[in-house]
Amino acid sequence: MSTVYLNGEYVSKDQAFISVDDRGFLFGDGIYEVTSAYRGKLFRFDRHLARMKRGLSALRIDLDPSGLEEVHTRLLKENGLEDAPVAYVYLQITRGVAKRSHRFPASPVAPTVYMFAGQYTRPAREQWEQGYKAVTVNDVRWARRDLKTIQLLPNVLGAQASGDHGVDEIVFVQDGMAIEGSHNNFFMVFGETLVTHPLSNQILPGITREVVLELAGTLGYEVQERSVTVEEMFAADEAFHSGTLSEVKPCVEVDGRAIGDGRVGPVTRSLFDAFLAETGGTG
Ligand code: PDD
Repeated sequence: MSTVYLNGEYVSKDQAFISVDDRGFLFGDGIYEVTSAYRGKLFRFDRHLARMKRGLSALRIDLDPSGLEEVHTRLLKENGLEDAPVAYVYLQITRGVAKRSHRFPASPVAPTVYMFAGQYTRPAREQWEQGYKAVTVNDVRWARRDLKTIQLLPNVLGAQASGDHGVDEIVFVQDGMAIEGSHNNFFMVFGETLVTHPLSNQILPGITREVVLELAGTLGYEVQERSVTVEEMFAADEAFHSGTLSEVKPCVEVDGRAIGDGRVGPVTRSLFDAFLAETGGTG
């Protein structure tokens, strides 16, 4: 049984319980984070921490998560993942436990902090080289998708739509624009130019997205952060999703139509190789 962290204690997962009055359970009133760790080393933790702080402040949950870095590292150790090529730590902070009422609790309650660690199995390179397929899904999420809240029903339904269609991923479409995936960001490549939806309230500011943009600059690709219509997406030479548990994931077909020649392209491949090098070459 794995060891998890709940409200200051390390416990066996089958001994971790939360109240049915937890506002995360009743209202989806909380935030989450997923941070990867390459051979036990947390990847860009400072940026995950900054995103946590921003989310907590927007939701007005009074908790400073700075001390949780240690908990991340210890959870990896407790679960024998400190040498794993790729592992991750999930964190969730809710407003806490209080009698059900839409307003915040009248007297402050302690937020609930829950964390667990898991192993990520990167697909074999041969499988990655086949590329992945996606379907478009109309984006019906709320207007603060820049916050990593635990209210993920449209993402869940979107991801399920990909399963129902027998494909791997989705491309959320908002006002005719291809904006991001259900749990990752989305990039298109036109020649040597990398294009992705700009940061706004419409998408999550992905840490992997940011790293990919930096790597693209280093590799000498032009980068454009602008919206792209679905029609233009179909004219792209390459496309890929990016995310903590997606890394750089080539997308070779959307809605049954090939992107480019329907094969993983050189720009995606060079970005993935640069990403592997950046994460310690653990590919
Ligand atoms: N998802 N967009 C959405 C909607 C996401 O949920 C995520 C992350 C991303 C990529 O962000 P990052 O590169 O910081 O992981 C983009 C996490 C991994 C999840 O829900 O499991």
